[in-house]
Amino acid sequence: MTPLLSIIILAAGQGTRMKSDLPKVLHELGDRSLLEHVHDVARELGPRIIQVVYGHGGEQVRERLTHLRVQWVEQAQQRGTGHAVEMAMPRVPDDDIVLVLYGDVPLVRRETLSRLVQAAEQSGFGLLTATLTDPTGYGRIVRDARGKVARIVEHKDANTAERAIAEINTGMMAIPARRLRAWLSRLENNNSQGEFYLTDVVGMAVGEGVEVQTVAPASLEEIMGVNNKQQLAELERAYQRLQAQQLMTQGVTLRDPARCDVRGKVTVGRDVCIDINVLLSGEVRLGNRVNIGPNCVLRDVVVGDDVTILANSVIEQSVIGNHCAIGPFARIRPETQLADGARIGNFVEIKKAQVGPGSKINHLSYVGDTTVGANVNIGAGTITCNYDGANKHQTIIGDDAFIGSGTQLVAPVEVGAGATIGAGSTICRDAPAGELTLSRSPQKTVTGWKRPQKKSKH
Ligand code: UD1
Ligand code: CA
Repeated sequence: MTPLLSIIILAAGQGTRMKSDLPKVLHELGDRSLLEHVHDVARELGPRIIQVVYGHGGEQVRERLTHLRVQWVEQAQQRGTGHAVEMAMPRVPDDDIVLVLYGDVPLVRRETLSRLVQAAEQSGFGLLTATLTDPTGYGRIVRDARGKVARIVEHKDANTAERAIAEINTGMMAIPARRLRAWLSRLENNNSQGEFYLTDVVGMAVGEGVEVQTVAPASLEEIMGVNNKQQLAELERAYQRLQAQQLMTQGVTLRDPARCDVRGKVTVGRDVCIDINVLLSGEVRLGNRVNIGPNCVLRDVVVGDDVTILANSVIEQSVIGNHCAIGPFARIRPETQLADGARIGNFVEIKKAQVGPGSKINHLSYVGDTTVGANVNIGAGTITCNYDGANKHQTIIGDDAFIGSGTQLVAPVEVGAGATIGAGSTICRDAPAGELTLSRSPQKTVTGWKRPQKKSKH
């Protein structure tokens, strides 16, 4: 029977070099904190339990991440990685395998961790190591004459020969719980940092005849940690590269994979094309043959098939039907629904509105708290006056209505089906179906009127 897995995520570090009031593991990649990324990959391994060891600012971490199914373990004083793991051991049954992860190393992959756990099952100790051109700062993997792992020496405790070793300890390891518990109880802190080093259990394992099996990550970003804002930015880029790769694997055309950012979850149909500088955030669902122009932002949007979104459009919490055209420079705010074939043009703001099939709002308008029927044409510069300073009111526009340019619809108001509103009207009462309604002050001409002249100075 394969043993069950107990995962311990170390997250008690202060993160001083982030120069931030936010605890380090709460900083984000994409739309999720570093710790959530680690939690999510840990969860995919199907563990019995995930424990997070928190310390400095920990209450803030717990409060912000209450949705995570983890056990929180406080390490009040940071006395080293070995001490941190020990804090979590009381909840770990003897027959489990313990997997140690770091809360600030967010891009490690499930496949890599599975291999690490398998190594522990086979040999009794799995250690994730990597070979770096600049190993400065890391613990080094010391191997014996036969090339077997002998121990780990921390950079600060290493001599010149040891510092020349390029193979480093990533910190991630998998160890059967019973043995780990015994080794942890024997740790000492007589080293240069006065800490209880988790890494010392490697030497103890070897001393007991356990062969430490090393596993290498598929790519180096998997083992990269975040200690400062530069590293956070580098990992964000790495994360975005992965998202872009995934989109392209699903058939999306990205005009430049380095200029499309995903902060959430995106699902796509076939032949989706995304131009440069596009941000997709929250949950975005794109149908077949959706074209997104440059500089667009979509947040929590469902888009149907054959939709074109032109440059510089911003769409939030809305549902877009099939065959719609949006933008350029359109702003579609939350709770909007566009039915099939609707068109929203430039400098148009839509909020909390249902726009019926085939209806057009093509230029410079504000339509909010409104129901627009089918095949309605709303002329340039139309404004729904939905707010009286205290409350919002509804506008209803029936099928086939024609709203002339420069109209103000003072809500609550209803325009009947097939009604025509003359350009420049201020509509305060309901406009009947099928009729022309307009409100316009009579035009007059003052004959013989002269423009004022500039007074001449002497
Ligand atoms: C550790 C390893 C080193 C490895 C490196 C990889 C030890 C002794 N050394 O060194 O071999 O190359 O990570 O980055 O393990 N933490 C706690 N409580 C503590 C101390 C640390 O929770 O008391 C957490 C930190 O938040 C961090 C992780 O453990 O997530 C590593 O701690 P850090 O101090 O960065 O270890 P290093 O000295 O870098
Ligand atoms: Ca570190």
